Amino acid sequence: MKHFTSVNDVPNLELLKQDAQDLASHPNMYQEMGKGRTLGMIFFNPSLRTRMSTQRAAHLLGLSTIVMNIGKEGWNLEFEDGVIMNGDKAEHIRDAASVMGQYCDIIGIRAFAGLDDQKQDYSEPILNAFKQYAGVPILSLESATLHPCQSFADVLTIEKHKHSKRPKVVLTWAPHPKALPQAVANSFVQWMQQEDVDFVLTHPKGYELGETFLQGVHTEYEQRAAFENADFIYAKNWSSFHSYGKVLPIEENWMVTSEKMNLTHNAHFMHCLPVRRNVVVSDAVIDSPNSLVKDQALHRVVAVQTVLVHM
Ligand code: CP
Repeated sequence: MKHFTSVNDVPNLELLKQDAQDLASHPNMYQEMGKGRTLGMIFFNPSLRTRMSTQRAAHLLGLSTIVMNIGKEGWNLEFEDGVIMNGDKAEHIRDAASVMGQYCDIIGIRAFAGLDDQKQDYSEPILNAFKQYAGVPILSLESATLHPCQSFADVLTIEKHKHSKRPKVVLTWAPHPKALPQAVANSFVQWMQQEDVDFVLTHPKGYELGETFLQGVHTEYEQRAAFENADFIYAKNWSSFHSYGKVLPIEENWMVTSEKMNLTHNAHFMHCLPVRRNVVVSDAVIDSPNSLVKDQALHRVVAVQTVLVHM
């Protein structure tokens, strides 16, 4: 596998999952593999789990890491070609990415959607510029439209906790005071489409994801109906795709509560974190024994460790 920016980069998902299970049992089995090599991790946006789990995974493989918070520590980058750079942008991505590629054997990039310009965000300008100019494999640490490391960890978490061969997995939109990207939701839908699960997407009208992600997806607009007999409830907020980046007024309260979880088949609760307690989900649900949020975060290590081995 050269780059890892979506599930579509994975040539053999079953093999990736099997290797993750082997690495979960024997985390040090490839501790010499990365010796003398360097993983660069470039953050255009904040992170807790991705930053820490990816470094932990790299170190388990003997890789060195260089972490750069480009927004705070780097030069302000220009992405347009052919512009006269006499403004506040001191360095062109062509130069910055190609230099970073000389220091690193793999480069991880976190670059969220700006949520102002749908066409620009969905063209993944930052990720693709690194792919074009860095000359080394690129690992997505969450891009404008996808979060594959999170989704792979979520798949491994579901695999571990499922009680039936084909569990019902529900992705539910949940409220949030700020406009958030669609990346986690898009990505989870993509990965669920590869899995043998009864997958249901539920959200208020107006929060439909982009058509590319909805091929064959069962959408249920009634949250309570979607929850019936579910084995896994995955909550996530995203801003509107069609009224791009907007937080639309919603009359009903879509927060995940114990009362709603009682409609399920004793479902596990999932969220990628960070989460706004008592906005997205009640304390009672996230603190219940059925909550998998910590296990999801733990699976981030083995997920990215496996991806790095394959890269
Ligand atoms: N879930 C996730 O990616 O967490 P961070 O944003 O803290 O890295």
